[in-house]
Amino acid sequence: PLPPAFRTPLPLPPILKPVGTAGGVDRYEVTQREAVVEILPGVRTPMWTYEGVFPGPTIEARHGRPVTVTHRNELPVPTVVHLHGGHTTAASDGYPTDLVLPEGWQDEVHMTHHTNGMPEVGGMRGMSDPRAVVTRLTRDYTFPMSQRPTLLWYHDHRMDFTAPAIWRGLAGLHIVRDEVEEELGLPAGPRELPLVIMDRAFDGEGGLLYPSLDPALRARPGVHEPYLAGVLGDVILVNGAPWPVHEVDAARYRLRVLNASNARHYELEAVTDDGRRVDLVQVGADQGLLAAPVTHPSLPIAPAERYDLIVDFSGVPVGDRVRLLNRLGPGRTRDVMAFRVARKAADPSRVPPVLSHDLPTWRRSDAVRVRDFSFRAGRMHGGHGWLIGGHPFDPARTDVTTRLGDVEVWRLIADVHHPVHLHLVGFQVLSRGGKRPHLHDAGLKDTVSLRPGESVEIITRFNGYRGRYLFHCHNAEHEDMGMMANLEII
Ligand code: C2O
Ligand code: CU
Repeated sequence: PLPPAFRTPLPLPPILKPVGTAGGVDRYEVTQREAVVEILPGVRTPMWTYEGVFPGPTIEARHGRPVTVTHRNELPVPTVVHLHGGHTTAASDGYPTDLVLPEGWQDEVHMTHHTNGMPEVGGMRGMSDPRAVVTRLTRDYTFPMSQRPTLLWYHDHRMDFTAPAIWRGLAGLHIVRDEVEEELGLPAGPRELPLVIMDRAFDGEGGLLYPSLDPALRARPGVHEPYLAGVLGDVILVNGAPWPVHEVDAARYRLRVLNASNARHYELEAVTDDGRRVDLVQVGADQGLLAAPVTHPSLPIAPAERYDLIVDFSGVPVGDRVRLLNRLGPGRTRDVMAFRVARKAADPSRVPPVLSHDLPTWRRSDAVRVRDFSFRAGRMHGGHGWLIGGHPFDPARTDVTTRLGDVEVWRLIADVHHPVHLHLVGFQVLSRGGKRPHLHDAGLKDTVSLRPGESVEIITRFNGYRGRYLFHCHNAEHEDMGMMANLEII
């Protein structure tokens, strides 16, 4: 039986401590390993974890202070680490074939990766360029952190197996901060809460249910046919706890919300026990602070999107709850979590009318080219796939070549819901459905939700680093079934 809603206390992911800070670089070590985690109260769930915890430990970074993370793979399969939203060199961006191998896999991969055709070991399908496979037992990822402060997340990105690996637990937060943001006076300390929202499904013993064709996640990628559109769970987790509750002061809180679900979309709203809506005041998007706050009665959030929200509990009677709900339901997936207002308290925080001055101001006329991409279902290797511009992902094909520094407009069009993510850069939404962007499209984003049949235009400048990056659908099952493409910056 599933636990009742709003009883389990909200956990906060532990903050990872650096193992060293020499030379102005914070060095971290993360071991990826199997662990038994208590998600449902009193129930043991075997998972794949970063450091034995789910979600993984949070990395707290400072703008301008590089971070190195050494990942050691003690899992039974190869892995790849990607810092989602990171402004990162290509070598550390976690390309889907830049593997971190577990002990004993080196030979196996070298023997099979060039045979081309599916299925192969570790998700090597389609590898026509064997040099593309980079294999190590541990790997150092370096993140320059020369980017706007925001909430990032790191997660697995192995070719063809990203969705089940994230589902099993390979996801964690990475926050970037700076003094400018800290001086704004937004709620801080215990009044700033990371909220990682995910759905999961469990079997009778407490194990995670996922419809993989190969439950070992070694050879054959993909999911059973009824799940081709994406895998949904019937239990909503926040920070790894089912429908949790958190005690709050009657004051403003800053909620750093991430939808880390594989395929589930939410429309979040905050409602008091007596049925009043509490506004969600958005101060930031995927890539940091907005120019000015935007007030929403409710907010849609697609997989991989983040919102930085201020919620004011001061008008709520002590003892009452504010429930965070998902208007898209159905059933128990309508509940997300609750805040119980425990006491009156002083509130020194503020939400300034101007939040940031450093947002880029690209105009359509700055763009040196316009590209069109369709995101649609199609055939791939004789089976069902999800395609960008008519092609399934192939690491050996360059889909887009652009020049460092160029501004481009991309027109994206979808058949069904597709949250589209670009690596390396943030972008702005220029139009949605041929009209103005929606209120929730404000600010600098790295993931944009295309709704069924909708076209969205985005504008960005490819700045920072040259090399091979990706763009893809962040419905993780779509991503694994081909909906990813190479972006080469020259
Ligand atoms: Cu969060 Cu390429 O992904
Ligand atoms: Cu998709």
